[in-house]
Amino acid sequence: MPKDSVTLTDNRTGKTIELDLLSPTCGPMTIDIRSLYKQLGYFTYDPGFMATASCWSNITYLDGEKGILEYRGYPIEQLAESSTYLETCYLLLHGELPDQTQMDEFEYTIKHHTMLHEQLLRFYSGFRRDSHPMAIMVGVVAALSAFYHDDEDVHNPQDRINAAHRLIAKMPTIAAWSYRYAQGLPFVYPDNSLGFSENFLHMMFSTPAEKYSVDPLLAKALDVILILHADHEQNASTSTVRLAGSSQANPFAVLASGIASLWGPAHGGANEAVIKMLTEINESGKPLASFIDRAKDKSDRFRLMGFGHRVYKNFDPRAKIIREICHEMLANGQCQNLEHQKLLDTAMELERVALEDEYFISRNLYPNVDFYSGIIFLGMGIPLNMFTVLFAVGRTVGWVSQWNEMMGDKESKIGRPRQLYTGSASRDYEDIKP
Ligand code: CMC
Repeated sequence: MPKDSVTLTDNRTGKTIELDLLSPTCGPMTIDIRSLYKQLGYFTYDPGFMATASCWSNITYLDGEKGILEYRGYPIEQLAESSTYLETCYLLLHGELPDQTQMDEFEYTIKHHTMLHEQLLRFYSGFRRDSHPMAIMVGVVAALSAFYHDDEDVHNPQDRINAAHRLIAKMPTIAAWSYRYAQGLPFVYPDNSLGFSENFLHMMFSTPAEKYSVDPLLAKALDVILILHADHEQNASTSTVRLAGSSQANPFAVLASGIASLWGPAHGGANEAVIKMLTEINESGKPLASFIDRAKDKSDRFRLMGFGHRVYKNFDPRAKIIREICHEMLANGQCQNLEHQKLLDTAMELERVALEDEYFISRNLYPNVDFYSGIIFLGMGIPLNMFTVLFAVGRTVGWVSQWNEMMGDKESKIGRPRQLYTGSASRDYEDIKP
């Protein structure tokens, strides 16, 4: 069978070339442009990767038009309904759902890697007490590379899985401790009798002085939120992880680069930015419409945080699920704080107004996952600056799975984009001395 291809004619020279078309399991056909420079001497220009597949991947599929998100072929709705975060981690990392023995072993392994090296505790005291927990996360996760370096061969599949286990297991401990440190509270060690999400809540909120029992409803909601954040194919932080890892760098240092990228308000930092925006709206005393107008005004940098997505142009399936959890939590009385209730009311009004506004409709701008996750985190008593940290905890498995996939690919090369140079042409140095 002849391969599908596209024909490209250079109108400057009349030269015609054939480029192969690659067929994905789902999604658009993809033009293989690797030989383009060799054949025509041209680069392609695509800042922001608007139409460029930076890699192949078997892990996650999303269709922005239809609002589909699947991990290893399983719809996110089914996983959120029936799976657990740890089972989803196994699926993302290994490609298949585990049987009971595999699941028990995986759970045992993760639970037995949750502790941090005691020496690592000292890193926390190097930070100011008012440090943003994401700054602490970047630093402490990068510091793990100093503890696991010589025994990490990135070309050895077992070493890569060991690194993945360590990262999935230790991230909640590092995250909870970044909060405890800022609060001046003692670090709480992991409790292996608890599930993944319960353990995180335990490390965040228990004190040595009082008995703390984890609310099962909150633990369940958190587990679902972590599932929703577990992977999202080649987003900014995952692409950062792939690019950093492509130089064969230490995986813990590589993960820290992903955390840094996630922190930005256009990416994972949006959940925190949403609450800041809602607070600003409430405290300003100005009508909601004035903020909508600002979001539409091109001379104003203000945007409606939690709205829009590069890929989802219909709805964000994660937002749909998380919106339901949000309402369930409210119905269960988990939002008794008046401040919180006011934020939620503003959020719901903002959503209603924006969804009826021609500007947002014509640009396919819908609430994304971050619009609702912050509201749920507030209801759980999670402090504002920990929201993106929770995103990082959930996304860790996605980052390591994508990194593992790339490192296992024999054809993988160091990432090295080209550029369209627009600076000065060659010129001679002039000495400033007379
Ligand atoms: N408020 C107002 N206008 C917006 C917004 C917004 N939130 N998002 C996009 N637009 C406008 C934008 O000005 C542009 O208008 P025009 O065509 O007139 O120039 C048009 O919509 C397309 O926007 P874009 O910036 O070209 O889209 P993008 O794909 O580069 O950006 C985005 C996607 C998510 C960065 C952007 O929508 C945004 O900044 N949203 C707010 C931040 C946010 O909620 N981020 C979380 C993303 S979901 C979690 C995750 O996966 O990280």
